[in-house]
Amino acid sequence: MSALPGPLRPEIEALETSGIQQVFDLGFGREDLIALWVGEGDQPTPAFICDAASAAMKAGKTFYSYKHGLPELRAAIAAYTSDLYGIDCAPERVSVTCSAMNGIMMVLQAVVGPGDNVAVVTPVWPNVMSAIRIAGGEVRAVQLDSLPDGGFKLDLERLTGAIDENTRAIFIASPGNPTGWVMSAGEQHAVLELCRERGIWMIADEVYARFIFDGPESGRKAAPSFLEIAAPEDPVIAVNSFSKAWAMTGWRMGWLTTPPSFVQTLGRLIEFNTSGTPHFQQYACLTAIGDGEDYVRETVERSRRGGELVFQRLSALPQVHIARPKGAFYAFFRLEGLSDSLGFAKQVLEETNVGLAPGSAFGPGGEGHMRLCFASSTQKLSQALDRLEPLLSKPLRSQA
Ligand SMILES: Cc1ncc(COP(=O)(O)O)c(C=O)c1O
Repeated sequence: MSALPGPLRPEIEALETSGIQQVFDLGFGREDLIALWVGEGDQPTPAFICDAASAAMKAGKTFYSYKHGLPELRAAIAAYTSDLYGIDCAPERVSVTCSAMNGIMMVLQAVVGPGDNVAVVTPVWPNVMSAIRIAGGEVRAVQLDSLPDGGFKLDLERLTGAIDENTRAIFIASPGNPTGWVMSAGEQHAVLELCRERGIWMIADEVYARFIFDGPESGRKAAPSFLEIAAPEDPVIAVNSFSKAWAMTGWRMGWLTTPPSFVQTLGRLIEFNTSGTPHFQQYACLTAIGDGEDYVRETVERSRRGGELVFQRLSALPQVHIARPKGAFYAFFRLEGLSDSLGFAKQVLEETNVGLAPGSAFGPGGEGHMRLCFASSTQKLSQALDRLEPLLSKPLRSQA
């Protein structure tokens, strides 16, 4: 057999398998495993959404579709966004994508090239950093401050200091994966002003928007969004997904909300990346967004219960530093003395058969932490905690 023809692009050669994937590869398929390492719940997509997909498929909705998405789906997403944030979002600003990941990739293709950089608030979902590198850009990590109570805070001066003449965008996920940090409206105002002044994009990853746990007190149905404070032509792109709130991770469906003047460019990128999203799946998304409010409320409440249980039990352990989760569906806890979270994730897997993600996978500020996804039943989480507690209570030296 002949060798492959020539070297690959250096950015591609340099890509590494994330620490989450490494632990996953080690443990996937094990019997009696409690997998809390990836970012999804333990429930399949609800039947009313699946039924809409199969009805559409049977009705012949199996052809190429509009590249920005079915007009009725764009209108439904715009109405949902307008209702959630009390704004007037035009359907033309919404483009349906094959997942949030695909949306992020296309946005980066549009705005980042070799020599450019993107300021990314970290710890963050590792795919974002890899996507920037694939586009040829440099990741400028802006670490959240780790607070003594286990929470996180954005240092606006640090973010401003990371920006130079080659910065094309700021990327912020709020509610954050893995931290559960939720950006305040005040912080969003300051960052938007920075983007306006410097002429750079704000890429706002809002896939966990519905997962906030102070909803009853704050009267909000979603975390503060850049869409609430930005004018349509501000340099803001909001990334969203059907994956989390409607339990549709395997469907690979999401959407972008962009300035009207960016829509045509995005249309070309959609054409050359995917040529649009699966036709019949768009009908399922239409049902999800139109009829799924009760389901979303129950899902968020289930995650709140899971997060509270994990917080109560982990915060009782002297070596563990954890704040009560504010958003998303992860406990990102600091373990005293931990300096090799990947090694520890492997040890946890071997000794307890529980899958956790290592903090180091999430970039600067992540080492020393472990991530546990609590979008599961309290019964399953209790079982996992029963297994984890003895190991997390031992002094770390004896675990090295
Ligand atoms: C912050 C963040 N953005 C985007 C995604 C990806 O969403 P999708 O499944 O739509 O690609 C994830 C998935 O875990 C995530 O954590």
